[in-house]
Amino acid sequence: MKRRNFLQLSALSVGSTLSSNSSGQDPLDSQEIKQVERANVAAIDRRPIPSSGESLPVIGLGTWQTFDVGAEPEQRAELSNVLKSLIAGGGSVIDSSPMYGRSETVVGELAEQAGLQDDLFYATKVWTRGQQAGIKQMQRSKLRMRTSQMDLMQVHNLLDAERHLETLTKWKQQDLIRYVGITHYHTGGYAEMAALMQQYPLDFIQINYSMLSREAEQELLPLAQERKIAVLINRPYEGGELFARVKETELPSWASEFDCSSWGQFFLKFILANPAVTCVIPGTSKVHHLLDNLSAGRGKLPTQQHREDMLAFMPS
Ligand SMILES: NC(=O)c1ccc[n+]([C@@H]2O[C@H](COP(=O)([O-])OP(=O)(O)OC[C@H]3O[C@@H](n4cnc5c(N)ncnc54)[C@H](OP(=O)(O)O)[C@@H]3O)[C@@H](O)[C@H]2O)c1
Repeated sequence: MKRRNFLQLSALSVGSTLSSNSSGQDPLDSQEIKQVERANVAAIDRRPIPSSGESLPVIGLGTWQTFDVGAEPEQRAELSNVLKSLIAGGGSVIDSSPMYGRSETVVGELAEQAGLQDDLFYATKVWTRGQQAGIKQMQRSKLRMRTSQMDLMQVHNLLDAERHLETLTKWKQQDLIRYVGITHYHTGGYAEMAALMQQYPLDFIQINYSMLSREAEQELLPLAQERKIAVLINRPYEGGELFARVKETELPSWASEFDCSSWGQFFLKFILANPAVTCVIPGTSKVHHLLDNLSAGRGKLPTQQHREDMLAFMPS
């Protein structure tokens, strides 16, 4: 069993950040610790990966741009606390890519320093052309993320997908990776993605889906359910654009009917209300945003009527 009980871990990780500073990171400040402790009152929901039955927490963490930082202690400290809070709050999925600059390395180093390696579900990608170049890149990612086994390896933006899927199928048989996936981030990739979903025994797809970009509802999400493929959702906030839309708008009072107390939770709960979705991976570099995101994984979800009201309520 790779994961420890997260409540046990949360006591451990929060305690250790309070009492020691062996990793050289700043401890969480007391307000943030209280937030993490409160966050542990209830676990976040989990959903099964259809191909194995293993369950995953419904909220994960993306690393594009946010984890592409240097070695400066100030930059690293907050990201370390983001990782600790992810685990303390019941999350585990972290998504990276060799395309994201230093992110894989930063994730690997911070997870090792904090002793979180056994608690993370590591997802990264292959993003190059050619079989040998792909193999080399994936081996490098494993070293950079400092994990003995990559949980999920995905073909980034379908680049040279058929060639890499051959390698990944073999790697899964050899236990070098646990799951195989493909990713894209806009509708331009959907037709090819649907074809690959029909052709290969994929464990995961990763696609964009948000209150503003709902095209995945047409074909990909139903197809994932039919083919029993787990779904990670990227760009749930449209890179942050959704928050700009509601800057002048108050959260409607009826959001409390589905245990929602922030715009972040509003946007994420809309996505999680779709049963084809396994896990949403918003990117953040801030502990308070991470905790807000995790809160979307607790409590009630919007009904179909709520979802229609949510869409109608969004400022254009
Ligand atoms: N083709 C692909 O495979 C592909 C493509 C795109 C993305 N992805 C993956 O998907 C992940 C998510 O997408 P994304 O990072 O592009 O966009 P996103 O998750 O839609 O938005 C990230 C932005 O939202 C802000 N944010 C996060 N939580 C917030 C909260 N609770 N309240 C207010 N602001 C919040 C973040 O800023 P702060 O740092 O200030 O919190 C950041 O600017 C990526 O990190 C990456 O891992 C994969």
